[in-house]
Parts: sequence; structure tokens; C-alpha cells
Amino acid sequence: MVSDKVSIHGAWASRWVFILAATGSAVGLGNIWKFPYMTGMYGGGAFVIMYLLCIFLVGLPIMLAETLIGRRGRQSPVNALGALALESGASPRWSWAALMGMIAALLILSFYSVIAGWSLDYIMGMGAGQFEGISAEGAGGAFGALTADPWRLTLWHTLFMLLTGFVIARGVVAGLERSLRVMMPLLFVLLLVLLGYSMTTGHFMQGFHFLFDFQPDRLLDGVLAALGHAFFTLSVGVGSIMVYGAYMPKRASIGSTVLAVGILDTLVALTAGLALFPIVFAAGMEPGAGPGLMFVTLPVAFGNIALGQAMGTLFFVLVLIAAWTSSISMLEPAVAYLVERTRRSRVLITSVLALLCWLVGMGTVLSFNVGAEAKFFVFAVDGFHLFQWGAEGGRNFFDSIDYLTSRILLPAGGLAFVLFAGWVLKREAVREELAIDNPLLFGLVYWLIRVVAPLGILVVFVAELMK
Ligand code: PHE
Repeated sequence: MVSDKVSIHGAWASRWVFILAATGSAVGLGNIWKFPYMTGMYGGGAFVIMYLLCIFLVGLPIMLAETLIGRRGRQSPVNALGALALESGASPRWSWAALMGMIAALLILSFYSVIAGWSLDYIMGMGAGQFEGISAEGAGGAFGALTADPWRLTLWHTLFMLLTGFVIARGVVAGLERSLRVMMPLLFVLLLVLLGYSMTTGHFMQGFHFLFDFQPDRLLDGVLAALGHAFFTLSVGVGSIMVYGAYMPKRASIGSTVLAVGILDTLVALTAGLALFPIVFAAGMEPGAGPGLMFVTLPVAFGNIALGQAMGTLFFVLVLIAAWTSSISMLEPAVAYLVERTRRSRVLITSVLALLCWLVGMGTVLSFNVGAEAKFFVFAVDGFHLFQWGAEGGRNFFDSIDYLTSRILLPAGGLAFVLFAGWVLKREAVREELAIDNPLLFGLVYWLIRVVAPLGILVVFVAELMK
């Protein structure tokens, strides 16, 4: 029987709101900032194909698993896993996987807020016409000046964290649902405006070929990166999708809903690529610029084409909204858990957690300037150091947290969730939640959850460790 439990935090008005919320979580810096630059770095079409395979074979099965666990459990991820494990006669320690995911989500939020804050700075700069006719050196210099200034970074980081906390503190219906109903349509409109604009630059087909031309020789270059990115971009492995699943109406079919979210996320990434690369080509620049693509190359491109300042401002508003609807989903699992556990007010718990993430985020702020030499995980000639100032090699604070979350914690969390849904929950329970009527199709999806997705994760995990 489909569970009759209701979450104490409230529920979405319909499955459409779940789609808005999960798409809002999925579409973020990952799609607009990471996906285009990774595609540029790993050779265009070859990367896109690997990415699509990873999304559909590994990412979506995990998303299905998370959504159905959440909706059946009707509580925060930690308590949902604990309760369902007990019900299925398994160890309640399964909830530790959700605890780990919850912490990973908070860690991601800590640096995500800093980077999202940059878009606030760029909205101001573009709006003020600061990038009008700027050269590549000029834009590089402007970006360097921003990251070198801890005060400016702190200001935007603080503001972004406040924006995130504000929505969460108001609750699932008055905060999340209400703001998502406004922000998501706005995001799609902005994206379409940009796409329409890039079609007028005269370089649209060049961008198109770059994204979709198939180069077999580069196929394996980016496969590890593609899988890691599939996790990140779909927001799976941390419980964000699971907590949203807990607020989903009980009759809605999970199978088709999750497919819609996956397709929307992919479409946004591809559209962002289609909107951005022609603009980059129109300005006569290279697409392989790496992480600087969005903050250095694009301002130059926008600064040197007709209507560029207005479009550039719109673009960074789009980035801000996308990041905002993702950051709230990083905070919600922990807030829901602590509200259930302590029965204290949501406002209080949100404030404490946001402050904590803000503090950890200061580590990221400083790793771009005065703390750049603080290195973690250093493998040196004289052995391994957890921390060493000014070491050769090693990672700064930001890179360490990024590595720890996206390369280790997300895959580990995703593996645990998909194994739980595939091997701990009863087959009947899964069938009922997914509501896929065709037995063949259900068999296929169930096999993806039980076998294909876990194996995919394991292979990448091992390959990653051996690198
Ligand atoms: N999916 C988001 C993005 O693409 C990032 C994210 C990761 C959100 C994990 C929630 C949880 O930017």
C-alpha cells in the first residue's frame, strides 16, 4: 500500500511543484558554469555523449531511488532511511548514509555560496557597464581583483547565505514552494531570451557543432569527470532530492516525474551551452578556458558585442536564480532533520545551520587570497601531511572540500541510496512507488537501480582511487 504518512514540514501542492523543486535543485552552477567549461575542456561532443550516458544509466536511477525512499519515509532523509530500514528488517545504521549525505550537502553549500556570490558582484558590475569594451586582460584582472579581496568576497557570500536561509526559514510551502513558483519560470524565460540572442550572433552553428560533433578519439578523456558531474548536476547522493520526495503527493507517479526532472536538467545544460558558445565564438575567443569561462571569457564576450551589457546582466541574474534554487535544497535536509529531532523552531535551526555553513565558507573565501598557501592532503617526499602551509602540491581549502564532496561523499551516498532501494526495500514497495505499469519497463528500471547504477559508481570510484 502507498504510505499514508504525511511529513510534519508540509507538502507540495502537486507533483508539478515537486518537478519545479527538484529541477530547481538540479539546475544550478553545475549546468551553467561547470557543464559548458567541462565540455570545452574535454573536447565538446565526446564529453556530451559520455555525460548523457552517465545521466541516464547512473544518475536517474539514483534520483528514482532517492525520491521513492523520501516519499515512502515522509521524513528527513536520516529518519526516512532509519524508519524504512527497521520496517524492512534491516539495520537502522543505514541512516548513517543519509547523515553523511546531509553533511556533504552542508559542505557543498559552504563553497557554493561563495561562488554564487560572485554572480552578485557581476550583476552589479555588468549593470554599471564596467565591462563595456573590455579586453581579455582587463576581464582577467577584474576577476583577479574580486577573488583577491576577502572583504568583497565575504560581503557577497554573506548576502547569498542570507538569501538561502531566508527561503528555508519560511518553510516548505510559504518559503520553498512560493519562491520556486516565481523563480523557475523566470529562469526558463531568461534562458530562452539568451538562447534567442545567441542565435542572432551569427555563430550559432559553430556553437552547435562544437557541442554535438562527435569525436571518437576523445571519448574516454572525460568519462570520470562526466560521471562525477552527473552526480553533481542532478543533486543526487546527498539527500536533497530525497527530502523533496518526502513532500510529494502520494498518488503521483515517481517514474515519469523523475524522468521529467532529468530531461529538464539536461536540456538546461545543453541550452546553456548552445547559448554560451556562440557568444564566445562571436567574440573570437576559445571555449576551452576552464573554470574562468563564465567569469572571464564571458564578460569579455558580452563586453564586445551589441547589447552585451544588458544581456550580460540578465545572464548573471540567471546564474543567481539557478544557484539560489539549488542552495536551498542543500540546506533543507539538515533543517528538516533537526526540526524533527529537536522540535525547535525552523527559524532558529535555519539560522544556526546557515551560520555554520557561512563560517566554513570563510575557508573558501580565504583560499582565494590570504589563505591560498594553506594546503591540505599533501603527499610529500617525507610522507603524508594532512595540513602544511605553503606545500608543493596538496589542495587549498576550497579544492579540498570540492574534492571531498564531489569525488568521495556524493558517489558514496549515491551508492548507499541505490543499494538501499534495490536490495533492502521490497520489490513490491518499489513497484508501488514508481508506478510504472508496464512490467517490462519496470523490470528494466529495477535492474538499472539494482545492478547497473551501483556497478557504474564502483567502477568510477576504483578508477578514481587508482589515479
Ligand atoms: N545540482 C546543483 C548544480 O548543478 C548542485 C547541487 C549538488 C545541489 C548537490 C544540491 C545538492 O549546481
